[in-house]
Amino acid sequence: MKILITGITGYIGSHTAIEILKSPKLELIGIDNLSNSNVASLDRIEQISGRKPKFYEIDLCDKEALANVFEKEKDIAGIIHFAALKAVGESVEQPLRYYHNNLESLVNLLTFCKEYKVNNFIFSSSCSLYGNVSQLPVNEDTPLSETESPYAHTKLVGEKILRAFTEEADTKICALRYFNPVGAHESGLNGELPIGKPNNLVPVITQTASGMISKMTVFGTDYPTRDGSCVRDYIHVTDIAEAHVKALNYLVEDDNSDQFEVFNLGSGKGVTVIEAIEAFEKVSGLKLNYELGPPRPGDVAAIYSDSSKAESVLEWVPKRDLENMMSTAWKWQQMLNES
Ligand code: NAD
Ligand code: WQD
Repeated sequence: MKILITGITGYIGSHTAIEILKSPKLELIGIDNLSNSNVASLDRIEQISGRKPKFYEIDLCDKEALANVFEKEKDIAGIIHFAALKAVGESVEQPLRYYHNNLESLVNLLTFCKEYKVNNFIFSSSCSLYGNVSQLPVNEDTPLSETESPYAHTKLVGEKILRAFTEEADTKICALRYFNPVGAHESGLNGELPIGKPNNLVPVITQTASGMISKMTVFGTDYPTRDGSCVRDYIHVTDIAEAHVKALNYLVEDDNSDQFEVFNLGSGKGVTVIEAIEAFEKVSGLKLNYELGPPRPGDVAAIYSDSSKAESVLEWVPKRDLENMMSTAWKWQQMLNES
């Protein structure tokens, strides 16, 4: 069975490729325009899995180039669509770039999905759709609030496009709403490679520990949480990758699955920024240089997931705890420092 991963050289795409390649029954092809990743990611996938996916370096907004891929790879059974721009702050500064890239690429893909009768489709959605919530944990029925950034808006519109698409095509679709994916492959050979200055907490922690950032800041200390810092639901990237394999099996095997279904993917545990830092200090044996600072504009105080739908329907249970997330992220950072 032939599976196409878009955004294959990116952080979550590469980890998912490794999990997909464990199944000898699955043939994997990948697309990426390398706008936020490096082609060397394919070597890491091969080093870990022993198999190298066939790769097309194209932009999904280039309809002609995409048509050529579908023409060559006629019998694609499923698509896992990761490719998107994902920096929330950047999307506020460059909204048109985000709408253009994230939505045009989706519409192009769906056009060929219909033409080539691709039956199964998995979409990377995001917890950012929930925005400021009044009740925790959030499940798939929690009302979505006004999206706070053009990035989050592309995910909201993306889900709406997909739901509408099921009216005109037979494709079965899962939208997976990730909470905060962190960590790296257990081998330490693959992980997140932020281009430029990182914004997300875990790369900031590991770069501070390795001296690339002299002092990090905890954004906000007066939130109504256990210790005043923000609460998030960190989830290991390999658990996220495994959920995609489960979702793919579910779509392929279950003819009764609704045509469009949404699943939250989180650990279900709320962790404060200070707790995340302490978990890192414990597994690394290092003291992090950090200061307490003002809140970051746009941050919600607390959000974490009720992922029981994914547990019961997809039979997905996250296996890796916060310490594992921190130790694998640190192993990966050390590997990068040595190379
Ligand atoms: P990433 O940037 O590491 O990977 C995305 C990949 O898509 C990159 O390799 C990039 O080069 C590629 N890409 C972007 N636009 C493209 C285009 N037009 N054509 C071809 N390739 C293109 O990001 P990630 O963290 O792996 O995220 C994967 C998906 O998950 C994204 O859709 C993101 O919005 C979503 N998501 C991520 C997080 C997170 O915190 N990492 C959380 C929720 C949802
Ligand atoms: C986590 C916590 C910060 C850096 C983002 C997107 C969301 C989704 C996941 C894509 C927050 C705090 C951070 C630092 C800090 N991505 N922090 N000091 O903002 O929860 O979610 O990634 O869909 O859409 O918004 O993740 O890692 O940036 O922050 O104190 O130097 O760490 O304030 O509380 P966030 P994050």
